[in-house]
Amino acid sequence: MNTLEKVRFVGKPIVFLLCLVPAALVVTDAFGLTGQLSANPIEDIQDRFGIWAIRFIMITLAVTPLRRLTGWNWLVRFRRMFGLFTFFYALLHFLTWLILDQGLLVSAILEDLTERPFITIGFAALLLLIAMAVTSTNGMRRRMGRSWDRLHYSAYAVGVLGVWHYWWQVKKDTSDAWIYAIILALLLGYRLWWKRRH
Ligand code: HEM
Repeated sequence: MNTLEKVRFVGKPIVFLLCLVPAALVVTDAFGLTGQLSANPIEDIQDRFGIWAIRFIMITLAVTPLRRLTGWNWLVRFRRMFGLFTFFYALLHFLTWLILDQGLLVSAILEDLTERPFITIGFAALLLLIAMAVTSTNGMRRRMGRSWDRLHYSAYAVGVLGVWHYWWQVKKDTSDAWIYAIILALLLGYRLWWKRRH
């Protein structure tokens, strides 16, 4: 097997299953099989999906710098999967808010969306993720040409909006939000540095 075949037939299925583990743990914790949810289970579920959405956008944005630094070009084969997992976890986070937190109550949903700026920002990030997810197929990429590249640069905006959204909702301790802000600054800063050099 050459490297590309190994990535396709071994690496991708394994990484795919690993990416599902955080979601599976939320479900098994909810049933008390692997652990417990906290005293506020809805907030717990929502936070865990949200944190994984932010982790996956960081992982997605780390692919290009890592590839350039190591020369491991096969890493690019995982980028779409990581991007789609960002969308998957953001969607679960959103659905938890929509169904479990807001109880699908239209007036409460509209009020939160328009009057709590951190929610408006999260919603903007989700809309960008939806646009990228529906255009993520090879066929769409071919059909859209240059505008596909422009749309998929929104991944940077999702990173910024996601960290901003996270930061804004923190009640006391901002240390975790700082960590994500620093990682994002490094990932975007590396790109600026690369662009200037080349
Ligand atoms: C319509 C879209 C979204 C809504 C309505 C929403 C809603 C919320 C709410 C209500 C919280 C606070 C939960 C609490 O009180 O603890 C929260 C936290 C969070 N959200 Fe979102 N969010 C959205 C999109 C996103 C997106 C796209 C991301 C990431 C890319 C994200 C990442 C996070 C993170 C990391 C937290 C903090 C979790 C923690 O405290 O551990 N959210 N979100």
